Amino acid sequence: MVIAGVRSALRRGFELIERPFERLFGPAINPLAQLGALGFFFFWIVTVSGIYLFIFFDTGIERAFDSVETITNEYWFHAGVMRSLHRYASDLMVVMVATHLLREFAYDRYRGARWFSWFTGMPIIMLLYASGITGYWLVWDKLAHYVALMSSELLDWLPIFGEPIARNFIATGTLTSRFFTLMVFLHVAVPLFLLFMMWVHILRMSRPKVNPPRLLAGLSLAALVAVSFWNPALSQGHVDLARAPVEIGLDWFYLPVFPLIDLWGKGAVWGFLGAFFVMLGMMPWLPPLRRARPAVVDLAHCNGCKRCAEDCPFEAIRMVRRTDDRPFPAEPLVNNALCVSCGICVGSCPASTPFRRTEDLKTGIDLPDFSLRDLREQTIAAAQQLPAGPRVLVLACAHGGAAGRQAGTVVLPCVAMAPPSLIDFVLSRDLADGVVVAGCAESSCYHRLGADWMKQRFAGTRDPYLRARVPRERIAMVWTSALEGKRAAAEIEAFAARIKSLPPRQPRLPRSSGTSAPRREQPLSDVESRA
Ligand code: HEM
Ligand code: SF4
Ligand code: SF4
Repeated sequence: MVIAGVRSALRRGFELIERPFERLFGPAINPLAQLGALGFFFFWIVTVSGIYLFIFFDTGIERAFDSVETITNEYWFHAGVMRSLHRYASDLMVVMVATHLLREFAYDRYRGARWFSWFTGMPIIMLLYASGITGYWLVWDKLAHYVALMSSELLDWLPIFGEPIARNFIATGTLTSRFFTLMVFLHVAVPLFLLFMMWVHILRMSRPKVNPPRLLAGLSLAALVAVSFWNPALSQGHVDLARAPVEIGLDWFYLPVFPLIDLWGKGAVWGFLGAFFVMLGMMPWLPPLRRARPAVVDLAHCNGCKRCAEDCPFEAIRMVRRTDDRPFPAEPLVNNALCVSCGICVGSCPASTPFRRTEDLKTGIDLPDFSLRDLREQTIAAAQQLPAGPRVLVLACAHGGAAGRQAGTVVLPCVAMAPPSLIDFVLSRDLADGVVVAGCAESSCYHRLGADWMKQRFAGTRDPYLRARVPRERIAMVWTSALEGKRAAAEIEAFAARIKSLPPRQPRLPRSSGTSAPRREQPLSDVESRA
C-alpha cells in the first residue's frame, strides 16, 4: 500500500512535467521519455573526453596533479573543456540514472517479467559510482585525498583486507604510488564493465532506444559545452598527506555518502547501503504480484511468418525449426519467463481476423487470459451498449486515460493487441459509426512499442496494415496517460461531434480476411494527425 501510494504520487509528479512539455514541443523530444538513451549518450561523451584527457594526463603519482593543472590552465581551450565535459557528463549520468529508476518505478515498468532490466540496473549503479569515485582520485588534489581516505576507511571496516588500506595515505611511499596506479587502472577498467552491464541491461528488449533524437542530443551537448566554458572543472590544491583534508568542495552527485561516514559511522553507512540495494533488489517481487499467463502458440493456425517475433517488444519469441508436419520452415517459441502478456503478437498475427466464421475463433498466437475470441465478443457486446447518436466504439489500453470509460469501451492490455482487421470488422459490420483507438501516453507506451506499431499498421507501413477500404475519417487515435481521463473523454467527444457531421454510409459485409488489400496511406482524423 505504501509503495503503491509513493508510486502514484511520483507518477503524478512526472506527468505534471511531461504532459504540458509534450503538448508544447511534441512527444518525440520529451527528455524524460529518453532517459536510457540519454544515459548512453552521456556515457559516450565521458568516454571520448576521457580518452582525450589521457593523452595529456601523467599516470604517475608525482606528476598527476601537475598534468591536470596543465590541462586546466594551459590547454584550457581544448583539454580543459574536455575535462569539464568529462565531469559534467558524468554528473548527468547520475541524474539520468536516478530519474530513469524513479520513472520506471512510477510508471510501474519493473515488475513481473520485466524484473531483469530492473535487477541489472543495480550493478549499473554500483559500477557508475565506482567509476566516478576512482575518477576523483586521479586528480590527486585535496579532494582526492579526502575521497581516498574516506573510501579506504569505509573499505577497512569490512573484514576483507588483512591490513588497513587507509594507512597508505598517512604518509607518502611506494605503497601509495602503487595504489595510485591501481586506481588509474580501475578508472579505465570499471567503465568497461559498466558498458558491458548497460548492454546486458537492454538484452531483453527489442529495439531499445539507445540514441536520443538528434535535436535532444544536440541541445544536451551544447548545454554541456556552455557550462564547461562558464564554470570549468577545477582542482582543489595539491594533496598534502601530512595534513587531514579540510574545507573540501564536494561533488554531491558522486560523493554524498562520504559526509555520512562522519555523521553516522562506517557500520551505519554500510547498513544503509546494504538496505538500499536489498530493498531495490526485492522491488520487482513485492506483492501484489499480478501476472497474466503468457502467450500460447497454436501451430494449426501458424504459417511461420515471424511477424509475432518481430513485433514482440520483450524478445519473448524466438523462431525455431518447425515441429509439426505443415510445410513451413519455422514456428514461434514463446519464452514464458520473458512474456508480459501484452498481446501485441496477437495483433500482429495474420491469422487474427475477426471475420472468420468459425464458432471458436482461433489464431496463431493468443493470450489464454484474454483471447482474440474474448476480444471479438467484448467488442460486439460493447457495440450493442452504444447509445443512439454517433456510435463511437473505444478500444482502450488498460494503462491509458480511456480505460475507466464505461459504455462502448473494450479494455485491452495494449491497443496493439487489436488487429487492424478488428476495426474493419466493426465499421463494415456497422457495429459502430466510428472507432477510437485510445492508447496510453504516446512517449511512455506501457508496452514500449504498442503505439509505434499501431501507427505504422494504420499508415500501411507495417503488417498487418489497415485495409485501404476502411474510412479513415471514422477512425481516431487518442494518446493519453492514465491520469488524463478527462482529456481522453474530451478528445473522444470531439471525434463523436465530427462523425455526426459526416454523410451516412453504406455498410459492407466483406467475406475475405482483413490483411490482403494493397497498401495505401490515408490520413487519419484530426486527433491522429495532432498526436
Ligand atoms: C547507465 C545507466 C542506465 C542506462 C544507460 C539505461 C538504459 C536503458 C535503456 C536504453 C532502456 C530501454 C528503454 C526503451 O527503449 O524502452 C532501459 C530500460 C529499463 N531500465 Fe535502464 N538504464 C540504466 C540504468 C537503470 C537503472 C539503475 C535501473 C533501475 C534499477 C533501470 C531500470 C530499467 C527498467 C526497469 C527498464 C525497462 C523498461 C521496460 O521494460 O519498459 N535502468 N534502460
Ligand atoms: S504477449 Fe506476445 S508480444 Fe507480448 S510479450 Fe508475450 S510474446 Fe511478446
Ligand atoms: S505471427 Fe502468427 S502466423 Fe506468424 S509466426 Fe507468429 S503465430 Fe505464426
